[in-house]
Amino acid sequence: MHKIGIGVIGCGSIAELAHFPSIKQSENVELTAVCDIDEETAKRAKEKWEARAWYTDYEKMLKEDNLKAVIIASPPKFHCQQAIACAERGLHLLIEKPLAVTNKEAWDIVDAARENKVRLMVGCDRRFWPQNQWAKELIEEGVIGKVMMGRATMHEHVKFYQDNIAFTDFRLHPEIAGGSAVADTGAHAIDLLIWLIGSPVKRVTGIADRRVLNEERWGKCDDTAVIMMEHENKALSYVSCNRFSPVVSQFTELYGNEGTIFTTSDAQNPYQTAPLAVYTTKDYEYEQLPEIIRKYRWPQIFWAEDLITHPVKKRWVSIYPPREPNNYYYLCQHFIDCIVNDKEPLTKGEDGARAVEVMCAVFKSMETKGWVDLPLKEEVIPPYYQPNSLSTSGRG
Ligand SMILES: NC(=O)c1ccc[n+]([C@@H]2O[C@H](COP(=O)([O-])OP(=O)(O)OC[C@H]3O[C@@H](n4cnc5c(N)ncnc54)[C@H](O)[C@@H]3O)[C@@H](O)[C@H]2O)c1
Repeated sequence: MHKIGIGVIGCGSIAELAHFPSIKQSENVELTAVCDIDEETAKRAKEKWEARAWYTDYEKMLKEDNLKAVIIASPPKFHCQQAIACAERGLHLLIEKPLAVTNKEAWDIVDAARENKVRLMVGCDRRFWPQNQWAKELIEEGVIGKVMMGRATMHEHVKFYQDNIAFTDFRLHPEIAGGSAVADTGAHAIDLLIWLIGSPVKRVTGIADRRVLNEERWGKCDDTAVIMMEHENKALSYVSCNRFSPVVSQFTELYGNEGTIFTTSDAQNPYQTAPLAVYTTKDYEYEQLPEIIRKYRWPQIFWAEDLITHPVKKRWVSIYPPREPNNYYYLCQHFIDCIVNDKEPLTKGEDGARAVEVMCAVFKSMETKGWVDLPLKEEVIPPYYQPNSLSTSGRG
């Protein structure tokens, strides 16, 4: 079978953790070329992951004959320019989150993909954790009724990723990253919440600010973000992210009129002890329980009670999906599947752009001190961000 040629721009930590291993595990894909602005990084990635070629200039890489798709895993500032160049060459795109820094950049990417008829997917991998996929399935089956409130959180000191995993310090530079709590971790929380609630965001208010971390050590990026969103179906949701908590906590809560679902993926704690927890007020006989609940729950009571109580007793159910293969693998496989079988990705470019709109609306709302309607009417440039310049790579 003819293999799909993939190129990777930005061979840093997420490419190492997620994209290269997933490409390696895929039979119908070959790593045609890798590109990194840092020569050593590009060369090392080529050797380690057995790419055919390496580049430091992505425009040269795009001239490779066998290329069919590109994964963009460079810092956010570079996504727009690189994505448009790829789309214009007819290359399908998987772009890491956040899709871009400003709302204009994000929609420019979406437009370029549409005009050039290429697939565009954004790397919101949290949707690919089984517990979040199962939460979505249960919500769509109506297990918790109409979901009218939600909360997604990601509290994680920037040092965890920055000091141990990242290749560069772009996260400390708002001129490249755009934002930190609101854009780096917030990108995941915002996307997950909008998808699980299943209704677009109508208006936004919030704060994204540096309130705790020392500027000399950690830069000017926001370390605290709270975002309130009102959805078109009138649901209200809330995002809480920070970059100063010494212990990582992450969870998502969905409140329906007939039940509640909690999920967690990045870290559990004594209060969120299962990847997926469900409470429903619906009457189910054991055989009628949604398959996800019947097969994967670990009862907190003597299991036989479920067989002798009619309907099944109402209580919290903890569900433990298998952890492997992981979210990134599923995400990359999905991208390949979308190219091979000409499918619409689960995490579409438009979803990425809508999440960027929310981030930008937070900055706008700090100026206007109120709610900001979506879609935004003008480009919002986050504080300190410097668009449209490729003069720096974020290396500290
Ligand atoms: N989905 C996730 O969970 C996840 C996790 C981490 C990072 N990310 C995203 O992936 C992207 C990269 O983050 P990272 O943590 O891998 O960063 P990193 O600092 O570890 O690596 C970035 C790499 O890009 C290279 N680079 C910088 N400017 C470039 C340019 N103009 N062209 C080509 N290469 C360039 C750097 O030399 C470096 O090797 C960001 O958008 C980030 O938000 C996503």
